[in-house]
This record gives sequence, structure tokens and C-alpha cells, in this order.
Amino acid sequence: QEKLLSWKHLKLIAELSKCPPTSPATCRYTQLYKYRLISGFCNNRQNPRWGAANTALVRWLPAEYEDGESEPKGWNPERLHNGFQLPPLRHYIHNLKTVDDSYSQLLVDWGQYISHDITLTPQSTSTDGSGVDCLKTCENVHPCFPIQVNRESNICCMPFFRSTSDCFVNFQSGIRQALQRQQLNAMTSFIDASAVYGRDLKLESFLRDLPGRNGKLAVNARFKDPKGRPYLPFVTKLPSACHQDLQGERVECFSAGDNRVSEGLPLTSLHTLWLREHNRIAEALKHINGHWSPEMIYQETRKIIGALHQIITLRDYAPKIIGPESFKDYIGPYRGYDPSVDPSIANVFATAAFRFGHATISPILYRLNESFQEDERFPHLRLHNTLFSPWRIVKEGGIEPVLRGVIGSAASAVSADMLLADEVTERLVVLDTLKQMDLAALNLQRGRDHGLPGYNDWREFCGLQRIKTLDDLSLAVGDCRVAKRILDIYKHPDNIDVYPGGLVERLLPGSRTGPLFACLIGRQMKVLRDGDRFWWEADGVFTQQQKEELLKFSLSHLICDNSDIGEVPPDPFRLGNYPSHYVSCDQIPSMNLVAWKEEMGEDLKRCGLPKQINNGDYILSSTSRKVVALYSCYHGFTLKGAAVIVCMGNRWRNQPPQCNSTLLMGNIPMAMSIINRLAVSMSHCEPCTCVKLTSCYLLIFIRLCFRRTVSPLTLNKSTFPVSHLLVFFCICLI
Ligand code: HEM
Repeated sequence: QEKLLSWKHLKLIAELSKCPPTSPATCRYTQLYKYRLISGFCNNRQNPRWGAANTALVRWLPAEYEDGESEPKGWNPERLHNGFQLPPLRHYIHNLKTVDDSYSQLLVDWGQYISHDITLTPQSTSTDGSGVDCLKTCENVHPCFPIQVNRESNICCMPFFRSTSDCFVNFQSGIRQALQRQQLNAMTSFIDASAVYGRDLKLESFLRDLPGRNGKLAVNARFKDPKGRPYLPFVTKLPSACHQDLQGERVECFSAGDNRVSEGLPLTSLHTLWLREHNRIAEALKHINGHWSPEMIYQETRKIIGALHQIITLRDYAPKIIGPESFKDYIGPYRGYDPSVDPSIANVFATAAFRFGHATISPILYRLNESFQEDERFPHLRLHNTLFSPWRIVKEGGIEPVLRGVIGSAASAVSADMLLADEVTERLVVLDTLKQMDLAALNLQRGRDHGLPGYNDWREFCGLQRIKTLDDLSLAVGDCRVAKRILDIYKHPDNIDVYPGGLVERLLPGSRTGPLFACLIGRQMKVLRDGDRFWWEADGVFTQQQKEELLKFSLSHLICDNSDIGEVPPDPFRLGNYPSHYVSCDQIPSMNLVAWKEEMGEDLKRCGLPKQINNGDYILSSTSRKVVALYSCYHGFTLKGAAVIVCMGNRWRNQPPQCNSTLLMGNIPMAMSIINRLAVSMSHCEPCTCVKLTSCYLLIFIRLCFRRTVSPLTLNKSTFPVSHLLVFFCICLI
């Protein structure tokens, strides 16, 4: 490819075709730039794509498709597997939930929140070029893989969109695997608060308060909570699809770094807390370091918020999920950044293991008042009445009744014969599909869609015994009735799907998962930690004093500082009785941000602060003991001039660069360079290649002339213009 098209043009094609770009060959300025890139690229300098947004979910075991390449198991219903047909999916996994009164519901909600920070598997759009509408067909036609429903039901099938396949072919993996269908992770894999800041520059700019020049995030311009605290901004595409209260003003879906933010009220409340925490810290840092540019305030705050996400997840959350023993076995103490570790999310983690959380969803959302009793004004709600309903936050007392509910009510227990609540198997609403969905069936079908190997293969991968008999399964499940039911359904142990297999295993002591999911989650957490160059404990990321302050942070502190709640349990993942197990917010340790105070060095005093520029900003860094200012432009602008200026003696060498708009002016040089490239290529190509190249460059040229920005979040059938298809055609030609 690179012989025919420059990197710049490849990137443009990628942007237009929505086929994510491959990374540049080198990571420029990573020695100088102290912060993670928003896309996660270049975290690993040798393998810049590792862990980046829009790269393939990695395989810990090769995919298993019915045709070897892309058709999921069950695509041809008549096909036998180990001598038996695969069972239809809507068979098991319903029921009421019991509670586990060691933990609060917040433990479940943090699981969902953090899963959105590290994984998002994009799905194909309704028709995706095949001409078949997945909402209408019950046939298996790409990209539709509908879930067949029992004969007794009055519907034939539930719609299912296959996950988008990756465009990037990894030839290092051997030809057979290189040709297999792979799925994407649209988020960065790292625990980096991308749920707060987004995963590309465009979304990040939208979420920032750039005009405020204060390093803060943008807040909702229409509504504030009763005490004047801010809410998340609304999405831009209006009217949004979120449910509405029948009276009064519309409340649109919120926007955040992750577009699933409005799925549930606890999730939205957590996002809101982080937005407020960012702005609180940014304000304090500005006060402490008056000489920092808005960009530095923003990036330093983002770095702190990312570290806090890591601490809560690895220190407070993971041990409770996989149990102390598995934590020791699979994660262990931190020994420093290891560049040979690939931190990407594994397909089996996103598609099966971490969905264990779906078995812990509570069918009721509790809302509590100041005394942690049912709130008379805002009573408890059935879960389906809370999905995509942000109006309940704005018009029903803010985030406090929901937060008190999640810290003051017990988490649902996981038990083999009571897996998923009816609220999510019968009444789940997915925004773009108006039909009621079944989360259990979606999880299973997704596992097959992704070609996940079966339960037994994963047990072997984790060093556990393969299941051969009913006795083996009964031992693993700890309940012979459930084991028998599963074998009756699957007929052969090697046919058991990994999701239900892992879910029904007997829980390990002090954990909420069985041995298989504990292994898969533990391994994933370890690589997320060890393969992250910016991990909060890694050398040179924070000073010792800063680390000590970060360690004082807790979710209780987050709640205290950013809501009207004045009493909390010290560890809000543990369920305590109110008021005996609660303490006043004054007693919750808090970080002292003075540890981030940075004196202006002598060099900087001599050179003075670098010049501010329009539509961009700088951060200060250093190289060979010299202070440098590294400039970058905001989304939609291109940098003209030197990105790095050095403080030499008592002045800055070089003028600061300029940031020019890419939308209009930026396209002209690009278009000229395309014409130039075309002329060069035409002078020495075969006639046939010449024709292909001409059509290709012409298409890019035309597309450039009519360029229009489309947010990936709003990309759907109606915003997918014909010219994108032309670019696909062009890629095929090449
Ligand atoms: C009310 C609570 C929740 C709802 C309504 C919900 C709903 C969903 C839905 C609709 C999907 C997409 C299913 C598909 O089409 O494949 C999904 C994916 C997922 N969920 Fe949940 N979920 C909830 C809670 C949780 C919890 C508590 C966890 C983990 C502890 C979790 C982990 C995941 C993961 C890892 C994915 C895959 C994400 C991806 O890669 O796209 N969810 N969830």
C-alpha cells in the first residue's frame, strides 16, 4: 500500500471509509510527550497499535468458525458438532435474583462502568451493503445472525447484528489465522478513563471546555442539579433517542467519552461524578500552578483521573471479583512496565468472561433518601424503567438518590441456577433496536459470532481439567441438577459455549466468579497493568509523593467531593448498615494536590512562558536538560511550523507554530499533493494500474471537495454517504 499511497492519504481513506487507520511507522515526539495519546497509539513504542482504539480484540486461542474463516457456529443449523446440533439459545438463564449482602450494588455498577472504559465492540449497521435489513429478517445473511426463538413464542426471532470485522490483516499470525474474521475494540484497552475523555481527538475536543481555557471539561448548558452542580453535556444530534418524561422539557441523552453513558442511571451517575472530579482537580491545579497552560492543566488532570480509575479497579474491585487467591496467582505484585506484554483486550474477555457481570444485574434500582430509606418522592424502579432515561436524573432529584441506592443496597448474588434477571432477559431495551432484547441470548450469540472456542478449550487454556462426564461437570458447577440440565441441552461437553460454562461454575472462596472466569479476568487485568507504559506505578509516571496522595483516593471520596451525600461507608463496595457502618465525609482521607506543585525553573524564568497560540496549545517538557514547549493543534486544525521550540539562554528559539483550519484551507494543499502524486505515479505505471490509480485519486479528490464531518458516534445508514462506498471501491481497486 505504502508504495502507492502516502501515509497521509491512507489516513484520509481510512477516515472516509471508517476503516480505522493503521498506525504511522514511528511514534513522533513520544520521548517528549508525557501523556497518553487519546487513541492509545504509541503506548508501546515498538508496537504502536497494541492497546490502541479501533484495533482487533486479540485472540488467546484461535477463532473457531463453522467454515474456518467467518461463519459462526450455528450459522448452518443442520450442521452437527461432535455429532449433535447446537441448541437454540433461549433455553436457560432466567429467574429471580438473590442478594449477596457482603457487597453493595456499586460493585456491579463499577464493573459495567470499567467495562465501558476498556471495551466496545462495534456492530455492523442494519444493512451494511448486503441489502438485507437485520431488523426484519429471520435468515442468517451477513451481517444478520438473528437469534431463533422457541416455537411457543409469538415471534420467530430476535434481531442480531454481527460485530464489525477488522480491516487490518495481521500477517504475522500465519495465513490461516490472518484470513479469519476478527472483531474490533473501539475503545483503548488501557484503564485510562477513556470513558471520560473519549478515544479520538474529535470526541475529546467536543467534551472539553476549550473556549474556557481552564483545562476543564464542558458541562451541560441547560440543566444543573438542585445545588448548582453540573451535569454531563447532551449529545449534539437532536432529538436524541433517550426516553422522555411525558411532562416538561426534554432531557436528551448525555454525552461522555463512551456513548453508552445513558444506558442506566448508576452508570450515568458515575460518569457525572468523574466529570465533576475532573473539573474540581483542574481548578485546584490551576490555582497551585499558575504558570501551567490550559493544555497542561487538562492533561495533568486527565493523568490523575486515569490513575484513579486504575487504583479503584486493581486495588478495590478486582480482588473482590476474582478472589484473593486468584489475584495472587494471576496478577500478583507490580514489577514494572514490561514492553513485551500486549495489553490489548482479549476477545474472550470482552465477549464472555467480563460479561459475568450480567448475572449480577439487579432487577430493581433502589433510590434512597438522606436517611438511606426508600425515597418517598422517588421510589424504587424496575430496571427496564431506568434504561436510557437520563430525565430521571435531571428531574428526579439528581444523582444522589441513585448513588445512595447503589451504596446502600446489596449486590445481586451469582448462583448457578439463577443467572440473569428477567428484567434483562425479557425487557432489555437496546436503543437502536426498538424490540425487546434478551441479554443472555445476546451474550451467547455474540460468543458464536466472534468464533470463541468452547468452554472445555478455555478450561484447558487455564490449566483446568477438561469436562468429560456429568460427574466432572457436577463437580465444576457444584450442583448436579444444573450440570445435568446443561448436558441435556448441549448433549456433548465439548459443545458447551464458554459464556454459560464459565458462568455456572462454583464460585471460588471470597470471589464472584468461578475458576475459569477468574483466570481469564485475572490474566486480562495483569496485561492491562504490566503492558501499560503509563501505568500509575510505572517508573517516572508520578513522583513518590504523588503516588502516596493517589493511594488515599477512594470511591467514597469521589462521592463526598462531588455530590450532596455527607456520609459514606469507608469502602463503598462493601455493604454496611446505615448509620453504624457509615462515616462522615470529613473522615474520608483526601488527596493533597500540593504534591503536584511545580516551581518555575530558572530556564523558564529566563525565557518566560511560551506564547499561547490560537486553536492549539503547548505543554512543557524537557530534553537533554533543556526546557522545550511542545505545541499541538485542536481537532480540525493542522500545525504549521515547528511543533517543538527550545528555551536557549534567555529566549525561545523558533517562533511558535500556527494552527490552520483543516476543513477548508487544509484540503487545498492536500488536493494539490494528490494531483502531484497522481502525475508522478502515472509517469511510470502499467496502463491497467494507471487506470486504477487515476480512478482512485479522482475519487479521493472528489470526496475532498465535498468533505463533511461525520461523527463516528452518529454514523448510521443515513449518514453513510455514497462517497464512502466509492472509497471502499477505491481500496478494492488498489
Ligand atoms: C444494567 C446493567 C447492564 C446492562 C443493561 C448491560 C447491557 C449490555 C448490552 C446490551 C451489551 C451488548 C450485548 C451484545 O449485543 O453483545 C453489553 C455488553 C457488555 N457488558 Fe453489559 N450491561 C450491564 C451491566 C454490565 C456489567 C455489570 C458488566 C461487568 C461487570 C458488563 C459487562 C459487559 C461487557 C464486557 C460487554 C461487552 C462490551 C463490548 O465489548 O462491546 N455489563 N452489556
